[in-house]
Amino acid sequence: MRVVITGGAGFLGKLLAAKILERRALTDASGQLREVSELVLVDMAAAQGESWIADKRVSQVIGDVAERNVLAQAMTANTGSVFHLAAVVSGQAEADFDIGMRVNVDSTRTLLELTRALPTAPKFVFTSSIAVFGGALPAVLPDDQILTPQGSYGAQKAMGELLVSDMSRKGMIDGRSLRLPTVTVRPGKPNKAASSFASGIIREPLADVDAICPVAPDAKMWVQSPPRVIENLLIGHESPASSLVNTRSISVPGITVSVRDMVDSLRRVAGDAVADRVTWQLDPTIDRLVSSWPQAFSAKLGKALGMAADANFDDMVRAYMAYVNATKE
Ligand SMILES: NC(=O)c1ccc[n+]([C@@H]2O[C@H](COP(=O)([O-])OP(=O)(O)OC[C@H]3O[C@@H](n4cnc5c(N)ncnc54)[C@H](O)[C@@H]3O)[C@@H](O)[C@H]2O)c1
Repeated sequence: MRVVITGGAGFLGKLLAAKILERRALTDASGQLREVSELVLVDMAAAQGESWIADKRVSQVIGDVAERNVLAQAMTANTGSVFHLAAVVSGQAEADFDIGMRVNVDSTRTLLELTRALPTAPKFVFTSSIAVFGGALPAVLPDDQILTPQGSYGAQKAMGELLVSDMSRKGMIDGRSLRLPTVTVRPGKPNKAASSFASGIIREPLADVDAICPVAPDAKMWVQSPPRVIENLLIGHESPASSLVNTRSISVPGITVSVRDMVDSLRRVAGDAVADRVTWQLDPTIDRLVSSWPQAFSAKLGKALGMAADANFDDMVRAYMAYVNATKE
């Protein structure tokens, strides 16, 4: 079967593509394990720099997901699964409402409509975010917490979740929305997510570069490592529709760490000289957005499906250091 990943040239899109190629097969909406014979990446940018891109199963559609004809090129009749990751991230969606609506909402609806039109009733995995919640929240959010986004990105993800749920209820698609924790430590350059610093304060000092932390040391975050997120996305995909009775939205398990805890982990794992490269300078916009995000979830449904969290933040720093060493060679 064909698997389509939008945002396939992005950080998580590339990790997901590599893992699906390695697994070779996924379960379709009827519960049958099907060989992945085609993997199509749809993105504004071309995926490059990874050996698996030359795999004969991989092809790319390069274009704007807000253009129906771009998405339509990828969505052929043998499409069994769609992973919709393309998005403008939180900082950009907050700064430019129209781009956020176009990419995060309009393209999601178009892709859902194209998925609905296929004869195969494909699975549809939507990457949502904990930013669908905000404001005055309980210390630990239950699975049935109402959606109260405090930024445009969260509002746009919430709209996507509702569409996925409603179209699944109507049997038009077999959808599931995964509310991912903040993913850290992310390699590469900073991005426009308000949470970008959560990787920067680890990644930059480890590369002998100074890093500024724009939120208060006590700010707490709900986080997960990149490999764990990919495992959980695949568990979300493989879970049968019968296990998603009351909702199609799943809060993914994570761990709660304060930003101070993150820097302390860096100190324990990499030493004082590295951790001392982090300085604190409050950015009120980022601080407001991040402090409005939830800090812990019961994630009962996610755990029942087999999703898991990382053990602790020290291990997440170590895993990133191992990744950097492996990619240096
Ligand atoms: N990384 C995190 O911490 C995190 C947390 C929660 C949710 N998410 C969600 O997971 C998904 C993937 O996140 P990521 O960290 O890999 O982000 P990313 O920015 O690395 O990747 C997003 C990709 O989408 C593409 N894209 C953006 N606008 C496009 C457009 N108009 N047309 C075509 N392609 C377009 C970008 O080129 C990019 O390759 C996103 O939906 C994001 O909202 C991420």
